[in-house]
Amino acid sequence: MFQAHIIGTGSSAPKRILSNIELEAIVDTSDDWITRRSGIKTRHIASKNEKESTTDLAAQASLKAMEMAGIQSEALDMIVTGTVTPDRQFPSAGCMIQEALKANNAAAFDLSAGCSGFLYALSIANHAIQIGSCKTALVVGVERLSSIVNWEDRSTCVLMADGAGAVVVTSKSESGGILSSHMKSDGSYWDLLYSSYGNSRTPEILQDVDIKPFFMSMEGNRLFKKAIRCLSSIAIEAMEKNNLTSQDIRLVVPHQANIRIIEGLASSLDIPMEKVYTNIHKYGNTSSASIPIALDEANREGLLKMGDNVLLVSFGAGLTWASTLIRWSI
Ligand code: ACO
Repeated sequence: MFQAHIIGTGSSAPKRILSNIELEAIVDTSDDWITRRSGIKTRHIASKNEKESTTDLAAQASLKAMEMAGIQSEALDMIVTGTVTPDRQFPSAGCMIQEALKANNAAAFDLSAGCSGFLYALSIANHAIQIGSCKTALVVGVERLSSIVNWEDRSTCVLMADGAGAVVVTSKSESGGILSSHMKSDGSYWDLLYSSYGNSRTPEILQDVDIKPFFMSMEGNRLFKKAIRCLSSIAIEAMEKNNLTSQDIRLVVPHQANIRIIEGLASSLDIPMEKVYTNIHKYGNTSSASIPIALDEANREGLLKMGDNVLLVSFGAGLTWASTLIRWSI
């Protein structure tokens, strides 16, 4: 068996920063409510006039990850992209990213798992490397949620945002790197968070005049209650699998959906918040992009040292939840 090691990280966010104060002029909300209930102060929102499509943001993040890894695009033999907001329904964002990077030797595809998209994608790359069917993979988490939120719905538009993160993962014979990955889902809760855009479902939805077509709909309160339980259980599963305890974890990098969820997770794992990376105040909820953006920032801030145990954990639409335990090896 080969071992998958992360050898480069990168991230990218649109130039435009939208503050809570600016949102007060768009919907009936307040800086105080958003800050207290979610921890978000600002977020990055893509603009039509900049090169900030899903593909553009992903390619920018990927180039930074490849530069850190010291590899050229021809070395990639797989591009796995977690996203629910590809530029087009098809072809995949992965193929568009492949073209932008001229990564001609890669097989490229997307994976839709809500906010767990990046960890699901990392898991697929990890397993492909372990069995020897892939040597070097680019794993991307990217979203342009601003294109699918209803800007009249204060319960979602103040939370969601845009951005991209990427890692380069390669096969090595040394131990360490990705120690394990875990994925779970429960489709019986699909209607807690969904987009009404679709093919077979659209005509039915359009008959209902009260529902705005093609927008995101979320039951935040019910999701909130599920989130901490799911995140906590899959984090514990990852630690148990590797015979580690909370004390052995150097840094937790959780999905950035809500600071109260992150604090609840930390408390349930008995891990102090100093060991939990958060940047939700700057980026809001970027779904699949949130973990790779946070991982890249933590890495570039020098918070991760060779041999550190790093726990990534996510929860999102589906419902899906996932964890990955890494022995850092950059
Ligand atoms: N500004 C002001 N008031 C608001 C806003 C807003 N932006 N949004 C809702 N409110 C009001 C509600 O109408 C409600 O008013 P009422 O009491 O008069 O009825 C009140 O605030 C409380 O609303 P709740 O929804 O109960 O607030 P809550 O404390 O649950 O916070 C939040 C809402 C932030 C959405 C939280 O529930 C949450 O973070 N949920 C989890 C989200 C999540 O994890 N999603 C999955 C991952 S994301 C993904 O996959 C893309």
